[in-house]
Amino acid sequence: MKNLLFVNSCVNRETSRTYRIGKELISRLMAGDEYAVNELVLEDCNIHALNSKTLNERVKLLANADFTNETFAYAHQFATADCIVIAAPYWDSGFPTMLKAYIEAISINGIVYRYDEQGNSVGLCRADALYYVTTRGGYVGDENDLGFATIAQLAMFYGIENAKCISAEGLDIVTNDAEKIVEQAIAGDLIP
Ligand SMILES: Cc1cc2nc3c(=O)[nH]c(=O)nc-3n(C[C@H](O)[C@H](O)[C@H](O)COP(=O)(O)O)c2cc1C
Repeated sequence: MKNLLFVNSCVNRETSRTYRIGKELISRLMAGDEYAVNELVLEDCNIHALNSKTLNERVKLLANADFTNETFAYAHQFATADCIVIAAPYWDSGFPTMLKAYIEAISINGIVYRYDEQGNSVGLCRADALYYVTTRGGYVGDENDLGFATIAQLAMFYGIENAKCISAEGLDIVTNDAEKIVEQAIAGDLIP
């Protein structure tokens, strides 16, 4: 069976609009294909931003081509997923810091990408699609969302051909009916 990795970067999941849309997307994906879903709740994962100590430990492992160390488990999981869904609210023009820390944890030369003899990067990830689900308080547009821009660029680098953004916005504008906007997003074509 194929496997779907759900990188859940939402907070306050009982009320998160991003999480709601993300979960709906996953049920639609599962209606079209059979997936075993692995959900990573980032706020429970305790992944820390790299620092001098952890980076140097990593460099040492990589110098010995020791890709089996536990520290690379998230990278292997990402590289071998058949489909990836990332759900992250739009924060400060991008996404929450815990998602950046997760990206630092998975971006391993030799697992998710490598360089060939000509110095070109070669993506090593199996997934052919990555869905980035987000909701925004104001009106920004997918094309101006630096969170999605980062993810789309990394997806290309990792060898994932399709990065798609699924968004709902204007949710914190008091004159808007946020619930209706979310319902419309869920009722719409979530799989572009
Ligand atoms: C820390 C933080 C930063 C935010 N930054 C922005 C922002 O830069 N632009 C914007 O339009 N909305 C911003 N918002 C509003 C969120 O994008 C909006 O409320 C979103 O729907 C939250 O998603 P959720 O319901 O899944 O938690 C921010 C909210 C928080 C809590």
